[in-house]
Amino acid sequence: MKFFIDTANVEEIREAHQLGIIDGVTTNPSLIAKEGRDFIEVVKEITTIVEGPISAEVISSDTEGMVKEARELTKIHKNIVIKIPMTAEGLKAVNIVSKEGIKTNVTLVFSATQALLAARAGATYVSPFVGRLDDISTEGMYLISEIVQIFQNYEIETEIIVASIRNPMHVLEAAKLGADIATVPYKVIMQMIKHPLTDIGIERFMKDWEEANLK
Ligand code: E4P
Repeated sequence: MKFFIDTANVEEIREAHQLGIIDGVTTNPSLIAKEGRDFIEVVKEITTIVEGPISAEVISSDTEGMVKEARELTKIHKNIVIKIPMTAEGLKAVNIVSKEGIKTNVTLVFSATQALLAARAGATYVSPFVGRLDDISTEGMYLISEIVQIFQNYEIETEIIVASIRNPMHVLEAAKLGADIATVPYKVIMQMIKHPLTDIGIERFMKDWEEANLK
């Protein structure tokens, strides 16, 4: 399973990139707004850090506007992937731009049938949101299992990005189910690195080393 980082914070991206585990970046309007910076400026800066797919989301809700934004955003860098919401207008936009060779990430996917439609429309990626489903007492990971199975049944090449990840268990379950990608917030990447027995182990090794050197 590949890892994308789910943030628009360039410091977090830079830091995580140094770990050698980041294959791409996903942003959304809320994440960009949190940074209080110009959208295009942020996306451009991200392209200088990560050599991999970088999702930038359209703001328009009509097909024409989405297509126009998609064409503009892809001019920024060859790695830009256009994030388009899962609506009828969005599917029409995916159908148009995918035929122009523009890569798309259909976002806000909450059912397997939505994922199937997005794939058929030509999406490069689909982003099912597990955390937001868990938030309303619906098992997000069950959705991932359904999409994985359907895409396998029909040898669909669209990649599944498990999104709205809130904790390391989401990452573990996504990997066990065979999802292609998990897009993970910086905080969760850090949580995944830590283990109390690793810390205790380092402490004990250092203590033993120092004691031996004292003799
Ligand atoms: C990424 O593509 C999504 O926009 C993001 O994972 C949503 O996460 P949230 O549900 O925590 O806002």
